[in-house]
Amino acid sequence: MLTKKLNDMEKGNSLFENSIRNLDTPVCSVFKEGDRIKPVSFNVKGEKLETKDSARIAETFPESIGQSENCVLHVDGVNTASVKGKRIAVLFSGGPAAGGHNVIAGIKKVLGQDNTLLGIKAGPKGLIQGDVFEVKDSDVKWIFNTGGFDFLGSDRTKIKTAEQFDAVRRTCKEDKLDGIIVVGGDDSNTNAALLAEFLYKDNIQVIGVPKTIDGDLQVGKLLPISFGFDTATKIYSELAGNILQDTPSSRKYWHFIKVMGRSASHVALEVALQTKPALCLISEEVEEKKTSLAEVVEQIARVVIKRARKGINYGCVIVPEGIIEFIPEFKGMIAELNDAIAKHEDHMAKLSIDLKRDFIVQKISAEHAQLFASLPDYIEEMLLLDRDAHGNLQVSQIPTEKMLIDMVAARIKEDTEDIKFSHRQHFFGYEGRCGAPSLFDAYFTFNLGLAAGSLILDGKTGYLASFTNFTEGGEIIAIPITGLMNIERRHGEDEMVIEKALVKLDSPAFKYFEERREDWAESDHFASPGPRQFWGPSSRQIPMTVALNQGYDDLMF
Ligand code: FBP
Repeated sequence: MLTKKLNDMEKGNSLFENSIRNLDTPVCSVFKEGDRIKPVSFNVKGEKLETKDSARIAETFPESIGQSENCVLHVDGVNTASVKGKRIAVLFSGGPAAGGHNVIAGIKKVLGQDNTLLGIKAGPKGLIQGDVFEVKDSDVKWIFNTGGFDFLGSDRTKIKTAEQFDAVRRTCKEDKLDGIIVVGGDDSNTNAALLAEFLYKDNIQVIGVPKTIDGDLQVGKLLPISFGFDTATKIYSELAGNILQDTPSSRKYWHFIKVMGRSASHVALEVALQTKPALCLISEEVEEKKTSLAEVVEQIARVVIKRARKGINYGCVIVPEGIIEFIPEFKGMIAELNDAIAKHEDHMAKLSIDLKRDFIVQKISAEHAQLFASLPDYIEEMLLLDRDAHGNLQVSQIPTEKMLIDMVAARIKEDTEDIKFSHRQHFFGYEGRCGAPSLFDAYFTFNLGLAAGSLILDGKTGYLASFTNFTEGGEIIAIPITGLMNIERRHGEDEMVIEKALVKLDSPAFKYFEERREDWAESDHFASPGPRQFWGPSSRQIPMTVALNQGYDDLMF
């Protein structure tokens, strides 16, 4: 009997997965006509977007900007045109984020039975290679509300060469595609904008959907957050809360927890607001205040010593994944390393790690070479890793938490022999990207899918589907991607990219944290938010940083 039950639960059929597949997902009222869900049209032109590099961007995107004028679009009602026969393909790009499967479900729903949804396997690489298949109703039923990107897979290929663009056009022709929906972060949506421009004259539409656990793809009121952030931070906060509860129980460890989030500290800040650790570093503050590494270490050591003197010889430090890029002396060194590695990529690929080290110090300034040589081997090695296809340093691989522990331990020893600094290190990253979407992310992504599909049926191209006003029933809008673009130095070259949204030190969320952190450092308080709920009292909770920054009166959507 039990064996039969267990057999039934194999292959994604756990009690939990079966229950969430049937969980009701709220739908924004614009899509509702009676009991039915309908596509909407976007005929109300809103605000015009400008960035510091708008003029240069306009030269590269004449078609896209010609039609959008970089203006946001608002919904004017249900789309009454009955569009038939369109073939639309969807792909995931970059790191996974919870809710991707619901985007597919939303697109499929608005395309209905008169149009065809295709899935592209393994991200942009699959688009280049033409790895396309038809998505069936039964697929959507199976993947609905489940985590991960496993239905399609993903990758980080940057479409940049003429051959790659031609290969995409070939896939579109061979599979008779009328549109592509790119579900991705800042870099992937940059790809989407370039594709939209390239395919404009072929009448092939390209729409982006904002995904990333990092939360660095956000545009004020127009896009309060990307999907996946809520689920990831709820998972990390649960784990951090459990660790925090362990500290006054076992009374012996300092836990250093590095959390994912790339350059931005949104994830670290959200976890801190939810759990109230003794310390949380914010990379953007380190940069703004030009805090050196020695000063960061000093700040931590002072808290450790102060708490120990009060008998609280334990605590927790949250470390944002990308902090190393923001420490002033590292910033210049990393920029020089990026350029040198890009320039000598082929030669360096043939060298052993020791030879790589010797080689690179000759290619950067003496000041930076000296700093580089002073770092522990485990940091040097990671700084020399290949950058990803978009030119990003692979900060997830750099054990900053270990470096800080080692330096804090040395600093405490210098000052006092009587304090025992016992420590543990953690990295919360991959654990948070593929869990089943929180109720908020499930709702957010299904509606984003409905919006992206609607934009396609409405003939739009080069827009990012967006969803805002979460606590007031939600509002669907479309953002011209070109209106978000700037020029940045990547891979040793100037490139057009969507600017990463970092934590602002004058934002309400940071201010809220700033006013409380001294208290958290000195006291033995913490909060344990527990596991994310799919049913029950906290199931409709949205991220605290989002609620504060958007000026909402409520934490519930
Ligand atoms: P995206 O920017 O593609 O959303 O990726 C997010 C992320 O999870 C970062 O937080 C992290 O630095 C990176 O992916 C890790 O990348 P990888 O999956 O290649 O190890």
